[in-house]
Amino acid sequence: MTEWEQMNDAALQEHYAALARRYEEFQARKLRLNMARGIPCPEQLDLSSGIMDCLGEADYKAADGTDCRNYGGVDGIPEARELFAQVLEASPQEVIMGGNSSLTLMYDLLVRAMLRGLPAGDLPWGKLPQVKFICPSPGYDRHFAICEYLGIKMIPVNYRHDGPDMARVEQLVAADSSIKGILCVPKYSNPTGVTYADAVVEHLAALPAKAKDFRIFWDNAYTVHHLTDTPPRLLNILEACKKAGHPDRVFVFCSTSKISFAGAGLAAMAGSEANINWLKKQISIQTIGPDKLNQLRHVRFFKDRAGIEAHMRRHAAIIKPKFALVQEILAAELRGKNLAAWSNPQGGYFINVNTLPGCAGKAVAKAAAAGVMLTPAGVTFPYGEDPEDKNIRLAPTFPPLAELKQAMELFALCIQLVGAEQELGQRGFRPGN
Ligand SMILES: Cc1ncc(COP(=O)(O)O)c(C=O)c1O
Repeated sequence: MTEWEQMNDAALQEHYAALARRYEEFQARKLRLNMARGIPCPEQLDLSSGIMDCLGEADYKAADGTDCRNYGGVDGIPEARELFAQVLEASPQEVIMGGNSSLTLMYDLLVRAMLRGLPAGDLPWGKLPQVKFICPSPGYDRHFAICEYLGIKMIPVNYRHDGPDMARVEQLVAADSSIKGILCVPKYSNPTGVTYADAVVEHLAALPAKAKDFRIFWDNAYTVHHLTDTPPRLLNILEACKKAGHPDRVFVFCSTSKISFAGAGLAAMAGSEANINWLKKQISIQTIGPDKLNQLRHVRFFKDRAGIEAHMRRHAAIIKPKFALVQEILAAELRGKNLAAWSNPQGGYFINVNTLPGCAGKAVAKAAAAGVMLTPAGVTFPYGEDPEDKNIRLAPTFPPLAELKQAMELFALCIQLVGAEQELGQRGFRPGN
């Protein structure tokens, strides 16, 4: 029961009027704050400044003698593959380096599958009457944008506390050969913050998929992005797929976009050696080689997985107070009111909020009207359609604490305003009258 439901009409109207006055005060401040995307703040980027000048003029050779200034090395220099092998818990032969973006790797792979097909498939996906992907939702809007762009029909599947609803996933993939894949953010998922449980990982690896070229896109974007000293462990999907007899089923993606520089980092992919060799041939047609100097810079700067982990603790020191502030404000403003539920993630970049059904879009619009841009409601679902209009993704990393405080106070106020308006409406009043 919400706090409003216990109030009589007069008390509710008075309460609503007080909320509306507070909202007007916010509007008078003429805020201009943008919390729409989860990006690192400048202080986080400063942590990696050393990458800019860690290569001297004479330091351009990779361990195997490759001149990193020149063409070549489609799969990446050996020490970069070794570094990412450590991060992704694979062997260097199971890793291929990309450019600066893991999203580009995913996009390119899906385009290849559409145009040319995957090794185990009979036909390019684009020649089939329909291709479908399972999209655990709420999820990452840019995954959904790629599917929509390529005409891949998205099937949303709900999240549970330990990952996607696997009974539903199994039911779907076992029955339909046009379901060619599933898009997963398995650790500190964007936006739910969920880390997949071992049983979920094993289940995905063992799924009895009807499509023989069914693939798991394992976007491990937040693999080292902990907000706690005791992070949850994610089972190794490459190993799980091998054990389940489907070694080629999974493509694993990651990047340093939120480790070093978002935009000037490194992306990598891991998969079975067969998949990596196939991909290397494909990529060789697209490029003569990636930016190997950036690979060398990253290796010199981070050295190894332990170097990355130490660096990530410095990131956490900067962003933990921001996550804590959001928790504090949401608790102070909304706890016990049954107007919203929110996550307290152990890592990643987002806090996931669920409002009362029908309230997310209005709350985001109200925040925007008072100068705070949030991630648009709905985008966390395929086709931008949140069936219950209740999910909102908060991205607290970029704004300075003082701005974040104002933005979150306004946000919590908007949730209350919209909740109160809904209750007034249900009682036959027009809010504001
Ligand atoms: C789940 C997920 N995958 C991928 C990306 C983008 O990665 P990249 O910068 O490597 O393209 C993001 C960025 O927010 C993300 O949240």
